[in-house]
Amino acid sequence: MRHSDDPPPPWWESGTVYQIYPRSFQDGDGDGVGDLAGIERRLDHVAALGVDAIWLSPIFPSPMADFGYDVADYCGIEPMFGDLAAFDRLLAAAHARGLRLLLDFVPNHSSDQHPWFQASRSSRTDTKRDWYIWRDPAPDGGPPNNWISDFGGSAWEFDAATGQYYLHAFLRQQPDLNWRNPALKAAMLDVMRFWFDRGVDGFRIDVLWHIVKAEGLPDNPPNPYWRPGITERDRLIQQHSTDQPEAHAIAAEMRALADSYGERVLIGEIFLPNDRHARWYGTPERPQVHLPFNFQLIENAWNAASLRRVIGDYEASLPTHGWPNWVIGSHDAPRIAARVGEAQARAAAMLLLTLRGTPTLYQGDELGVGQVEIPPERVRDPQELRQPGIGIGRDRSRTPMPWDSSPFAGFSTVEPWLPLNPDWRTRNVAAQEADPRSMLTLYRRLLALRRAHPALAVGSFALLDAAPDVLAYERRHGDAVLRVALNLSAEPRPLPFDGAVLLSTLVGGGDGVLRADEGVVMR
Ligand code: NOJ
Repeated sequence: MRHSDDPPPPWWESGTVYQIYPRSFQDGDGDGVGDLAGIERRLDHVAALGVDAIWLSPIFPSPMADFGYDVADYCGIEPMFGDLAAFDRLLAAAHARGLRLLLDFVPNHSSDQHPWFQASRSSRTDTKRDWYIWRDPAPDGGPPNNWISDFGGSAWEFDAATGQYYLHAFLRQQPDLNWRNPALKAAMLDVMRFWFDRGVDGFRIDVLWHIVKAEGLPDNPPNPYWRPGITERDRLIQQHSTDQPEAHAIAAEMRALADSYGERVLIGEIFLPNDRHARWYGTPERPQVHLPFNFQLIENAWNAASLRRVIGDYEASLPTHGWPNWVIGSHDAPRIAARVGEAQARAAAMLLLTLRGTPTLYQGDELGVGQVEIPPERVRDPQELRQPGIGIGRDRSRTPMPWDSSPFAGFSTVEPWLPLNPDWRTRNVAAQEADPRSMLTLYRRLLALRRAHPALAVGSFALLDAAPDVLAYERRHGDAVLRVALNLSAEPRPLPFDGAVLLSTLVGGGDGVLRADEGVVMR
């Protein structure tokens, strides 16, 4: 528990993170795809929003089979995005505005075009053969075990030239790296050093809980809850392919490396039940990641009872040294405004920015970008292309940022790589900046409120009793007490407490009731 006379918290506890999907933020060179120069040009938007750090999805050289999550050179910049000089300029420009910059480290797999994999597949005796996970075929010639790729189909690809299969938890163009090999591990830790030395403030670490597989690669057990219509991956429980003790040990090594650079942060992408999720904090003596990403607001039903349970259980699961965090959107998840509707998305913004823990905002959510239909001929997401028709497409959350009402929304001078949100002529940054009722104005106010009140940024947290459909909680820091009430329904509900309203998600006064979909922060 933090007390008001404690030393100031590290920035990643009190601050907020803003995720930029580089392909879709701002095109600076007229090819319809975003780039680093474009991001630099739009940094004032990020600074004016009031966040503290930017996390960039991968910007490294990549054949783009999985849009950058297939890395062909961990220490370079994809030419489509710019070069190292452009990166250095962006980093300096971010720092000049007081913004930290986090990169996306993709340790579980590289691209099949990475020179390491090219060497590895060249012969069974190559020195890099063991940098990836190669196995002989099963006696029937089939894959070595039953593991399923997260994107559907077997997780094994046969390589005729050397007569073995290699493992890929995602696309076959994303072979899994072998972290049990000391030389591979050293090379990957050197990648982190390379970027820390260049001045980056930390990493979001892609699928961290995947990076080590159980010795002997046993079959994964079937998932009794699987039914058709759910992703193929979920036919099996990923018992032996994820969350191994050795992966925790590596996370601790990554953390020690980060800590040797001072105040840097590691955010691990980890999907696990609370008890196993909490272990990724490590121990006070041997910490692992600072923040294991918490996606529960995305994964659970949007109603007061469910949120209350999710928040309470998550808070209760945290080790005393573990700082919480919350996410409501990403380049992988459906848009929050599409999922819960625009009215509730305003309440969601208040929830995200007033819960205890570091919030991560996803670009475009600050405008309330909602449902975008991607015409079949424009679908680009490999996950959707491999498993069509079950609603898992990610392109709808990756559409370009709408900046203004000029052609292509000011994002580009040509047709962008993905369609814009259909309402971009009115739902764009310029229009919302001028509108005191807009989602953008609400986000700016919430972020300013959070900055002004340590109770919101670092205070203690307690759930409060409230009427059905109302989620209420208290944040406390020293003598300061702020209370939050969110109406998760489309009908008015009684306010659970008295006080002065510091901020409402709606305009005008509510006369002692919580209006439909309203959220309030009260003193
Ligand atoms: C998680 C990333 O967020 C997602 O976009 C990617 O496809 C997979 N990891 C594989 O790297």
